[in-house]
Amino acid sequence: MTLHVDIDLSAFERNVAKLVNTAAPASVWVALKSHAYGHGMTELADNALRAGATGLAVLDIPAALSLRAHGVTATLFAWLHGQETDFAEAVAQGIDIGVSTLNQLDAVAEAGRLQKVPARVHLKVDTGLHRNGFTESDWVAACSAAAAHEKQKLIVVVGVWSHLADASEEADRIALSRFDTAIAAAASVGLKPTIRHIAASAAGFTNADARYDVVRFGILAYGVSPFSESSGQQLGLSPVMSLRSTAEVHDESTIRIHAGWHDGIPQNPKGAWVLVGGERCTVTAVHPLFTLAERPAGFDDGSSVGIIGHGGPSAEDWASWTNTIGDEIVTGIPVTSRRVFGG
Ligand SMILES: Cc1ncc(COP(=O)(O)O)c(C=O)c1O
Repeated sequence: MTLHVDIDLSAFERNVAKLVNTAAPASVWVALKSHAYGHGMTELADNALRAGATGLAVLDIPAALSLRAHGVTATLFAWLHGQETDFAEAVAQGIDIGVSTLNQLDAVAEAGRLQKVPARVHLKVDTGLHRNGFTESDWVAACSAAAAHEKQKLIVVVGVWSHLADASEEADRIALSRFDTAIAAAASVGLKPTIRHIAASAAGFTNADARYDVVRFGILAYGVSPFSESSGQQLGLSPVMSLRSTAEVHDESTIRIHAGWHDGIPQNPKGAWVLVGGERCTVTAVHPLFTLAERPAGFDDGSSVGIIGHGGPSAEDWASWTNTIGDEIVTGIPVTSRRVFGG
């Protein structure tokens, strides 16, 4: 047996329901970017909506279109576009489009003209993260250009949005104040966006002031914490992805586990362990196709090994052993490894 990737759909639904409860009266969109952080985008979409999310956020338009084709009728928000992005189908399919540049705004308006239906636009303002969005100095001009397109019924500005750096409480406070200023400026040129959104997991969970109309929860929906000081489980959430494999004797003191860094097991972990027969066994090396760990007493060939979950370590544990964040651990499990959906 190679790596088993189990996805617990009930845990995912419980997490989303808890986040929906936490964010109320704001609504929740679940971020399904990067193949739902490695969990399976189309597979989890319906569960997110069933658990109370009112929309889904994906990186790009092709992902949004594939969810529409899958039958999702709820709000689908896509925000990352290349030079070549064709907005026409997105407009035809009622995708909510995040817009960060004047070129994008014009292209989206042109798509609205072609499709004879106003494009649903969310204007993005950069509130300090510097990861796309109109700068503060360009914002009023962008809003005025959008208002002109709106007058011609090529677009409708349904949202104003941004993304927090979550670097510190102070940085977020400044970003929220810039966001308020941007919203007021949009109103001053006649825009009437009803969906204001800036928070993702960290601020959405902890800061009511950051929730506005919608929170775009990503990693917390998968039961993995964005905070270094607490795990998802400590926050009352359940991990959704678990990994297990089997092992055989390698030599007198070592077992060989059938999963390596080709399967997404992080390389060079410091202090990692896995669970074998109820015992914590220290990982000694991660190779491309297999992993070596200490051999527990009374080990039988073919024993099951808990690599994430199944009583073994959490994604956050692996993140701390490899000096990264939990997102990287779950997203790093290759899409070619078969997911088994249950729960
Ligand atoms: C625009 C946007 N919204 C929401 C999210 C979800 O973030 P998180 O996983 O921290 O909840 C991301 C993640 O990168 C993002 O880029």
